[in-house]
Amino acid sequence: MGLLGEALSRPGVRRALWRAWYPFFSRRIVGKGVDFLNYAFDSLDGRRPALEPQDEPMRHNVQLYAHVVGGADLRGQRVLEVSCGHGGGASWIVRTFRPSEYVGLDLNPEAIAHCVARHRLPGLGFVRGDAQALPFPDASFDVVLNVEASHCYPDFPAFVGEVARVLRPGGRFLHADLRHAGGVSEWVGALVSRPGLRLDAMRLITPEVIRGMEAVSPRHEALVRECLPWPLKRLGLDFAGVRGSLPHRALLAGELDYRSFRLFRV
Ligand SMILES: C[S@@+](CC[C@H](N)C(=O)[O-])C[C@H]1O[C@@H](n2cnc3c(N)ncnc32)[C@H](O)[C@@H]1O
Repeated sequence: MGLLGEALSRPGVRRALWRAWYPFFSRRIVGKGVDFLNYAFDSLDGRRPALEPQDEPMRHNVQLYAHVVGGADLRGQRVLEVSCGHGGGASWIVRTFRPSEYVGLDLNPEAIAHCVARHRLPGLGFVRGDAQALPFPDASFDVVLNVEASHCYPDFPAFVGEVARVLRPGGRFLHADLRHAGGVSEWVGALVSRPGLRLDAMRLITPEVIRGMEAVSPRHEALVRECLPWPLKRLGLDFAGVRGSLPHRALLAGELDYRSFRLFRV
C-alpha cells in the first residue's frame, strides 16, 4: 500500500474526505433533481416493481430500495433511514408503504436542505446527524434502513451498536452496502456478533447491482460531465460508478462485494 493508500485507510482521513466530498457534490448538482446517490439495482429474473410515473426516471435506484425493503410491512411503522442522501428512497417508501413516521438522517447538511425543500409529505422529516451517534432515544424505531452508505463510516461497529440501541425489541435492521472482498468477514462479523441483533437473511447482490449500474451509467455520466470541473471528472465518474469506472470493474472482478442484510432486534 502506498502513502496515499495508507492515508486513505485511516478512519479520520476517510471521514474528512466524505465530509467534504458529499456537500461539495450536492452543491454542484443542486437543481438537477438528483434524488438518489446509489449505484442502483436490476433483478436478474426480470421482476420489477410497479412504480408511479414520477419514479420511473430513477427506476433502477428505486429498485435498490425496493430490494432492501423486501417483503417488510412498513405500514404504520416508525422508520429511521440512516444516510438518506437526497431523500429519493425516503419519499418513495413513504408514498408506497405509508409508515406512521419516517425520519431521514444524513451527515451532509446540503443533502438535508435538499430533502427538506423537495420531499414534503405527511409523516416524513429529515435531520442532520452522524450514523455513529444517533440523536434518538433507546427503542424509538420499528425499522432502521441503511442503503449504500456504511462504507463511509470510520467506525462501523459503533454504527451497528447505535442501530441496536434505537430499535425496539422485534424491530428490523434492513441494510445494504459494498466492501472490498478482504473486508467482508469483518463487516459480517460486526453484524452477527452484536449483542441484541440476530441475522435473519444475507444475500450477495453484486450481479444485480452491476446490471443497475450499467442501466444508469449514461445518466450518471452525463451528470458528472455537466456538473464537475474537468480536474474532478475522473473522480466523479468513479464516484458515480459509471461503466468502466473503478467500482464497476472491481465489482465485475469480484474484488468488491455488494450485499443486503435483514436483522432482527432480539
Ligand atoms: C452513496 S450515498 C447513499 C445515499 C442514499 N442512501 C441513496 O441510496 O441515495 C452515502 C450517504 O452517506 C452519507 N454519510 C456519510 N457518512 C455519514 C455519517 N457518518 N453519518 C451519516 N451519514 C453519512 C453521505 O452524506 C451520503 O449521503
